[in-house]
Amino acid sequence: MASSSPIIYRLAFGNDWKNPEIFSRSINWNRLLLLKSGSELVGYLQFYRDGIGPHDVSFADVKDVFGGWSAALRYVVYRVIKRRFHSRGAYLYHIKIVKDYRGKGAGKFLTRAWLDSLNAQGVDSASLEVWAKNTTAIGCYESLGFQIVKTTSFKYLHRFNFIGDKALITMEKKLNKDGV
Ligand SMILES: CC(C)(COP(=O)(O)OP(=O)(O)OC[C@H]1O[C@@H](n2cnc3c(N)ncnc32)[C@H](O)[C@@H]1OP(=O)(O)O)[C@@H](O)C(=O)NCCC(=O)NCCS
Repeated sequence: MASSSPIIYRLAFGNDWKNPEIFSRSINWNRLLLLKSGSELVGYLQFYRDGIGPHDVSFADVKDVFGGWSAALRYVVYRVIKRRFHSRGAYLYHIKIVKDYRGKGAGKFLTRAWLDSLNAQGVDSASLEVWAKNTTAIGCYESLGFQIVKTTSFKYLHRFNFIGDKALITMEKKLNKDGV
């Protein structure tokens, strides 16, 4: 779970984009929030802040899984994708609530906890990206005051099965000292 990554890394790692062996050695635990009920995991939220994200895969990590030239090419693609997150300030990279707990307020609670922690540290805005068809997630973010600032449409790219949708929505929320 701490080694989770968004589907965009399928471009670099193919069906191994979820492979914990690639991501688990470079986890930044201070870019991860966990929500638990007793000892049970309810969900998690990963984020970027100041150019540092929830994991930073090294070439050695990729080489151990793919070996040789394949690893070199995949690592370059990984670095190119990763760069897009660096300049985003406080950015919600990935959130997931365990299926049985969805629709009960856990996603909103976890996102609000993240926003509260940013607020307490004086961060003035937060952003995220979400696939247009993910209406549950969009509803969750809107209910916390996020607003849509950009919609990127993929004219042809959506035909590739690694792209989740025809459009990617960017949302932002201004934070202030009075709370979220
Ligand atoms: C998206 C996700 C994090 C939301 O968490 P959740 O616990 O299910 O949502 P919550 O119960 O906290 O609901 C928060 C808001 O979402 C909206 N929402 C929840 N379930 C919804 C549904 N089935 N349809 C539409 N909107 C819904 C509501 O606006 C709700 O606010 P309200 O209760 O004040 O009306 C969760 O469903 C999930 O993990 N989905 C799979 C992974 C994913 O898509 N992650 C987001 C990637 S950007």
